[in-house]
Amino acid sequence: MPKGRKRAAIQFHYGAGSLSRLPRLVRRMTPGRSLLLIVDPGIASIGERAEALLEASGLRTISFADFSGDPRSRQIEAAAQAARAAGAEAVIAIGGGSALDIAKLAAAVAGAEQPVESYALCRAPLPAKGLPCLLVPTTAGTGSEATRTAVFTTEAGAKVWAWGEELRADQVLLDPELTLGLPRQVTVATGLDALVHAMEAVTSRRGGRASRALGLQAVRMAREALPQAAEAPGNLEARARLLVAAWLAGRAIDLAGTGIAHALGHALGEVAGLHHGRAVALGLKVALPRNVRAAPEAYAAIGRAFGLEGSEDEAVAEELPLAFAQFLEKLGLDQQLPEGLSLERLLLTVQREENQPMLQANCHSYSQPELRALLEALLPSPA
Ligand SMILES: [Fe+2]
Repeated sequence: MPKGRKRAAIQFHYGAGSLSRLPRLVRRMTPGRSLLLIVDPGIASIGERAEALLEASGLRTISFADFSGDPRSRQIEAAAQAARAAGAEAVIAIGGGSALDIAKLAAAVAGAEQPVESYALCRAPLPAKGLPCLLVPTTAGTGSEATRTAVFTTEAGAKVWAWGEELRADQVLLDPELTLGLPRQVTVATGLDALVHAMEAVTSRRGGRASRALGLQAVRMAREALPQAAEAPGNLEARARLLVAAWLAGRAIDLAGTGIAHALGHALGEVAGLHHGRAVALGLKVALPRNVRAAPEAYAAIGRAFGLEGSEDEAVAEELPLAFAQFLEKLGLDQQLPEGLSLERLLLTVQREENQPMLQANCHSYSQPELRALLEALLPSPA
């Protein structure tokens, strides 16, 4: 199977209706004619359009849509196997974060012998030469198209990540028209994921000037565009700004990582099956009051990007937790967790190895009693 070469930087393409450029962009990545096309099963009609465009220009596509919800290692193995069987010379993904993460990993491991789980948590280096990869996000979003990270669930049920240059996409195509059909709930949850990325990147201990600038711009754009896109799903301008905000926020976390909200969110996703965006939004909501005291200057900058006013940093930062909670309320986010969740299991999960990078990057180091208090604040109070 011919190998692709990873580029130093992602080639980025943007425009309403730009899906039609897909065949030309594929030809930039590979002279080959055989492609693996990973398409979110929920957007089959967009997948059919893409397939027709590619086939019309002489490219041969094998479609893979055998997944739902968060990616699992066996689905990634199946996608990699489909690429091998078809002799695919490039991978294209169209869909939400799950489709993109499956594509990034399948492209990276298609030519390798080891199972994908062996690359979790950087335990083994990713194969040096994977297949070239083009990502087309249809949610706004996880920012997966901009990062060198992919998250998946192991056969044992643990939510883990893989990281490496080898997971960087070769090309990204942002076409806001593809997000027009997103249901409100998905728009809200994925948009909140992007907003949380932006806020966590700005306040990360691993961040710098670039991640801060990218994150603050993403906060400004998402704060306005998310409610507009939720209220008027056909508002192309709002969809476009939200898609760009998610891309910028993805760039920001690629540089700075995420924080406590993602540690809590991954535990809530694993233990309670919560949608990732909803989980991290609730995680940030409970962590903000303590977080803002640890980094008032950074949170003041976020507060101003979020529309708050005032000259005193501390005062602006302290307004943010309430403003963020009201924002979630206005968006109609379901904030009620299911009954019967085990606090002890959540606590153990939050502290596991895979969540340590997020806990360590957070602006405040949470002690175990503090983590317990955050989880207690999240769980439904006993009747
Ligand atoms: Fe996220």
